[in-house]
Amino acid sequence: MSVRHFTDLSAVSAGDLRIMLDDAVARKTRLKAGERSKPLEGKVLAMIFDKPSTRTRVSFDVGMRQLGGETIMLTGTEMQLGRSETIADTAKVLSRYVDAIMIRTTSHDRLLELTENATVPVINGLTDDTHPCQLMADIMTFEEHRGPVAGKTFAWTGDGNNVLHSLLEASARFRFNLNVAVPEGSEPFEKYVDWAKTNGGKVKFARSAEEAVDQADCVVTDSWVSMGQEHRARGHNVFLPYQVNAALMARAKPDALFMHCLPAHRGEEVTDEVIDGPHSVVFDEAENRLHAQKAVLAWCLGA
Ligand code: CP
Ligand code: NVA
Repeated sequence: MSVRHFTDLSAVSAGDLRIMLDDAVARKTRLKAGERSKPLEGKVLAMIFDKPSTRTRVSFDVGMRQLGGETIMLTGTEMQLGRSETIADTAKVLSRYVDAIMIRTTSHDRLLELTENATVPVINGLTDDTHPCQLMADIMTFEEHRGPVAGKTFAWTGDGNNVLHSLLEASARFRFNLNVAVPEGSEPFEKYVDWAKTNGGKVKFARSAEEAVDQADCVVTDSWVSMGQEHRARGHNVFLPYQVNAALMARAKPDALFMHCLPAHRGEEVTDEVIDGPHSVVFDEAENRLHAQKAVLAWCLGA
């Protein structure tokens, strides 16, 4: 069997993604019932971080421990990578030591180069372009609260960033409608929109946040300035019409969910009343990173 990488939702079949989500739910249920199995005993995951993280770092670490495995935490700057050893050589070396590699990095090309040169599974823990593990947790969270996601309508309002790119891929893979409202100049990359549309995604661009959110089942946003994107930071007045506040949320369905991958910038992309309010499932999303990624690890490592 070829090495199973988890680079993007577009790189994994819809069938395999569904297998992982079902497995995540089953693992969560067993964990809550107190069951402890150790299918990854003796396995080691190397985690490389070129950017900060709270959820990704802790959930992968705890997930590996719960599965019986271990982790090695690495930061790009402390490795020879930071002294210009190539990604390709790093991939070949790490593959001789560890059973899988998770990387959070800047350019998507770094992830792809690592994947091309590693002989063990590589998992994308976020790049400038995508954040597939987040979407696995988000779809799991939606379905826990509202049942099958197929045919539902998600609305994204704010910056067209890496989380939106993975949401676009998820809309095609899991067959839900996606309305997008972003300010001019903050559009998602066309290749993600085109891929979603040509793979069965129903993506619509709205003229305003209000139009996007109208009768949506789930409203999603994220920070206005992503990590490493500070150079293209734009005035908050550009994004203010895209803020998720109570008035905007009221345009969605009465039982709509509010999602945010966190960390949130309260008072910017979302107000306290929404993120702490009855629609919000942000901490369920954060918890489900753990369960969804355990399923990803198990899929990659055949456990
Ligand atoms: N949502 C997410 O990936 O959070 P961290 O940056 O804390 O890992
Ligand atoms: N879009 C955000 C997500 C953080 C988890 C960023 O890249 O900074």
